[in-house]
Amino acid sequence: MNGDASGGEASELRDDPSATASRPLPPDPAGRAASEASPPLALRPATEADLDAIWAIESSVFGAEAWSRDMMREELTADHRCYLALTDAEGVILGYGGLLAVGEEGDIQTIALAPGARGAGQGRRLMNALLDAGGERGVREVFLEVRADNPVARSLYASLGFEEIGVRPRYYQPEGVDAIVNKLQMENRR
Ligand SMILES: CC(C)(COP(=O)(O)OP(=O)(O)OC[C@H]1O[C@@H](n2cnc3c(N)ncnc32)[C@H](O)[C@@H]1OP(=O)(O)O)[C@@H](O)C(=O)NCCC(=O)NCCS
Repeated sequence: MNGDASGGEASELRDDPSATASRPLPPDPAGRAASEASPPLALRPATEADLDAIWAIESSVFGAEAWSRDMMREELTADHRCYLALTDAEGVILGYGGLLAVGEEGDIQTIALAPGARGAGQGRRLMNALLDAGGERGVREVFLEVRADNPVARSLYASLGFEEIGVRPRYYQPEGVDAIVNKLQMENRR
């Protein structure tokens, strides 16, 4: 994951006119504050306008392995990409993920949630939305790399139908952690 950035055609999702942040829910008839009702998080296409918020998460989550801000901008604007943002009721970005789709092959480029948004099914939702986007573009197999020492992500990918097909030794620098290469045949999606 966090692969290189090369170009192609513009994202269909990025042009989606429904690409707006969710609005806060109104108070319910019993008069409770909307915040007590935990309004649902929304998914929408991410654009270059989201760079600050996305890169803030990227840099805090991935540390020394994070993409540079320029690389993240390139990803958000390059062709053949589909980037999605997970937002709260105020439109604050809590997570993001990106897919590169070229022909029948897709690559999950990155996915990250802010710590407070994890463990509630949103990572699975984001992955499924990226895979859906790939399917809509004709993608039939999807690849990704994951750190060998990331059991949460490995478990998520396995549960979606990804198979671990190889190892790239010491891929993640500077720590020298192996990357596990995953492949999903879309017909094996769960
Ligand atoms: C990896 C990540 C995107 C998963 O998103 P999430 O919202 O935390 O995960 P979900 O709540 O959707 O759970 C999906 C699956 O992940 C696994 N999982 C989630 N939390 C877990 C935990 N604490 N321990 C073990 N497995 C866990 C489970 O397989 C879970 O499926 P289940 O709920 O059916 O058991 C998120 O944790 C994250 O952003 N982590 C930091 C960045 C990162 O590692 N990115 C991936 C780089 S390859």
